[in-house]
Amino acid sequence: MSTNNPRITVIGTGYLGATHAVCMALLGFDVLGVDVDSSKIDLLQSGRVPFFEPGLPEKLAEALDSGRLRFSTDLDEAAAFGDVHFICVGTPQARDSAAADLRYVDAAFAGLAERITRKALLVGKSTVPIGTAARLTSLVQTISPLGPELELAWNPEFLREGFAVADTLHPDRLVFGVSSEWAREQLARVFQPIVDEGTPVIVADLATAELVKVAANSFLATKISYINAMAEVCEATGADVSLLATALSLDDRIGGRFLKPGLGFGGGCLPKDIRAFRHRAEELGIGQAVSFLGEVDSINIRRRVRTVDLVRELAGGDLSGVRVAALGAAFKPNSDDVRDAPALDVARMLYLEGASVSVYDPQANANAHRVFPDLNYADSLSESVRDADVVVLLTEWQEFRDADPDELGALVRYRRIVDGRHALDADDYRLKGWEYRALGRPA
Ligand code: UGA
Repeated sequence: MSTNNPRITVIGTGYLGATHAVCMALLGFDVLGVDVDSSKIDLLQSGRVPFFEPGLPEKLAEALDSGRLRFSTDLDEAAAFGDVHFICVGTPQARDSAAADLRYVDAAFAGLAERITRKALLVGKSTVPIGTAARLTSLVQTISPLGPELELAWNPEFLREGFAVADTLHPDRLVFGVSSEWAREQLARVFQPIVDEGTPVIVADLATAELVKVAANSFLATKISYINAMAEVCEATGADVSLLATALSLDDRIGGRFLKPGLGFGGGCLPKDIRAFRHRAEELGIGQAVSFLGEVDSINIRRRVRTVDLVRELAGGDLSGVRVAALGAAFKPNSDDVRDAPALDVARMLYLEGASVSVYDPQANANAHRVFPDLNYADSLSESVRDADVVVLLTEWQEFRDADPDELGALVRYRRIVDGRHALDADDYRLKGWEYRALGRPA
């Protein structure tokens, strides 16, 4: 690559920022990753990833070895170093409402704007309510000694946890939200290696770029809740949602992805994004346009309650004193993230009804323990299921899919299982003497 490549900073080194910084260095750019959390920066600089993400540690090592990536807590250094600054800080749900908490985003943009003294591009990647980029543009141009010379763009990120590196290097599409040709050119230079692979680019205004991200996550959440609403209909009618989902998925116009029925969605993105979107729509006076997202949320939460119902039914109607093996705590497999995890929520509800719950997750036990220390945490699958009255599968890790029903059966007190993720072979379990129940499927 040419030596006059733009130098890149990445502000915020969570899932998104750490992955983005590593991938930009792998693409040949000089990159500085910045975070206010010095323990995170120390870990990254020493080649360790502060969270579980398959493949990322190897890529971090490669990027550090190349000499093109380093980390710092110093925003002055970032302002002096970068030509293009990617802001990747979190936008969690506010404590007291459904709105997104924008304090970290605001602080990052304002902090850079105060310090930057030559023409540069600030690029937002965080998921934000529509209108944020326009507001930030006036904020930074008011603060900055450069005034309108300091430009802002929005470049939403669509990576999934568990596939972060692949999704960053080979995205389905790139979205460049820009207000000038100069800003578009900067983004085109930075993403050139990805564009050269044939990745489609949508060049849009700032508001559309912000909206693409929120609309995409809302669509995915809606698709999941749609099939889970059908699971409720199946439960009332004796139909089988598994067969229904397969039949629907064979229609190309519908497709099978994100149509998997079960315990529903969680994590740090989908739940808070649909809530923040509704909140923003209310503020804009168009609440009705996305009020259905309230239903999407409710359907999703009801699946957790229904899972507890199934465990209680298998236990004979009362959970107090019942030994439950809860398989999984992370919000999905290949992640140690327990933010808004349906699995942990179900474990919590079982515990509150008096069950003795033994949780085992191949990666997320430590994070789960921090959030919910009152549960018992087992070090292995066999320790978790030992003497269980009911087993409930909550996160579909491969280890659980691969488990042999007879071997598990030899450990439990009763062969009773609730498959909260439609991940197991129901016929095989039943053949081997298990009482098998799954959401939306006949008993
Ligand atoms: C999601 C989006 O998929 C990414 O495109 C987006 O970039 C990211 O949010 C974000 O906003 O940062 P992620 O939260 O990593 O990614 O997880 P997903 O793979 O989307 O899964 C979300 C939840 O839906 C999980 O709890 C999963 O178990 C559940 N799910 C998924 C289902 O219940 N059924 C399905 O068919 C698919």
